[in-house]
Amino acid sequence: MPASIKRIAICTGGGDAPGLNAVIKAVTIAAIKRGWQVYGIRDGYNGLLLPEQYIEGGLIRLTPERVKGITALGGTMLGTTNRGNPLHYPLKGFDGQVVEVDRSDELLRAFRLHEIDALVSVGGDGSMTIANALAQKGLWVVGVPKTIDNDLDQTVVTFGFDTAVSFSTECLDRLHSTAASHRRVLVVEVMGRYAGWIALESGVSGSADVILIPEIPYDLEKVAEAIKEREQQGNNYSIVMVAEGAKPKNGSVSVISREVGRAERLGGVGEQVAAALQTMTGKETRLVVLGHLLRGGSPTSSDRLIALRFGAAAVRALEEGQRGVMVALDPPTVKYVPLEEATRRMKTVPLDSDVLLTARDLNICFGD
Ligand code: F6P
Repeated sequence: MPASIKRIAICTGGGDAPGLNAVIKAVTIAAIKRGWQVYGIRDGYNGLLLPEQYIEGGLIRLTPERVKGITALGGTMLGTTNRGNPLHYPLKGFDGQVVEVDRSDELLRAFRLHEIDALVSVGGDGSMTIANALAQKGLWVVGVPKTIDNDLDQTVVTFGFDTAVSFSTECLDRLHSTAASHRRVLVVEVMGRYAGWIALESGVSGSADVILIPEIPYDLEKVAEAIKEREQQGNNYSIVMVAEGAKPKNGSVSVISREVGRAERLGGVGEQVAAALQTMTGKETRLVVLGHLLRGGSPTSSDRLIALRFGAAAVRALEEGQRGVMVALDPPTVKYVPLEEATRRMKTVPLDSDVLLTARDLNICFGD
């Protein structure tokens, strides 16, 4: 018989994704329907770890009034951070050096202090790994996967991805005419640290000529050849899609910065590719970095629906007494998978995937 619940909390961690507010709404309404109180933790776990930083307190009581009208909004009303891993929390020492400390026991005490029975943790691979560690330490937690990158394993898709792909495709549609008018090469850099899903799916839908993804290390000679060949066939412009995590053969990813307590920031590959292709093809080349534009805006109806379904399913999981699981999409339904299993590996683009094969059949070059 599942333990009875009086109060739950919800937090959003890591990079934001369109659909987070829809999850918050679904969790709030479904939990209140069951007679539970719902609290939102501000900025990942910071609302509990650094409560003094919040004038109104680090916890927000969530009510139907408070979550009204948020389904269509991008971002997260709770705030988020990618510097707040409680197991590797970055703290500045007296000498000004930042060191990582484990604040997970302190966090568990804060949950007890506020009499929170269970947590719905919404986040990407980092947040699910943290949720798994907290579950192992005894916290009652259910995870909800989010990421625009779609690199979380065990769920067919995450919310945020469709919005990002739709926007990226629209941008490509707009770039074709200007690239054609100026007979240029247009390099478009999109997010995608470990997996090239956004670059691949929007690249195919938006008729890119070249797609460079982390799963296929590229050779720019091959890309330049493809562009020149297009030229010979009368195509005087080319669109090159690059995922931020793409890397050259025998090379490494382009890193902007490394900081204690957070994942390294990627970026710069588009610039490198654009500069090299201009030299190699002799064609004027421009770069567009879509970056955080992919994370903003209103979620598509598909992302809203997934997010609402995930939020409601997380509450049903708690009601059933499920612990240490992540909600996952397994069409036509949702299922629950152990967090342990969900965090074991990243979901990268399989080299025999149908979308990749389609792209190759459409003569899209991958630089290999
Ligand atoms: O995880 C999603 C993601 O969009 C990655 O593709 C990207 O590397 C990262 O977030 C960037 O996050 P931020 O700029 O917030 O550190």
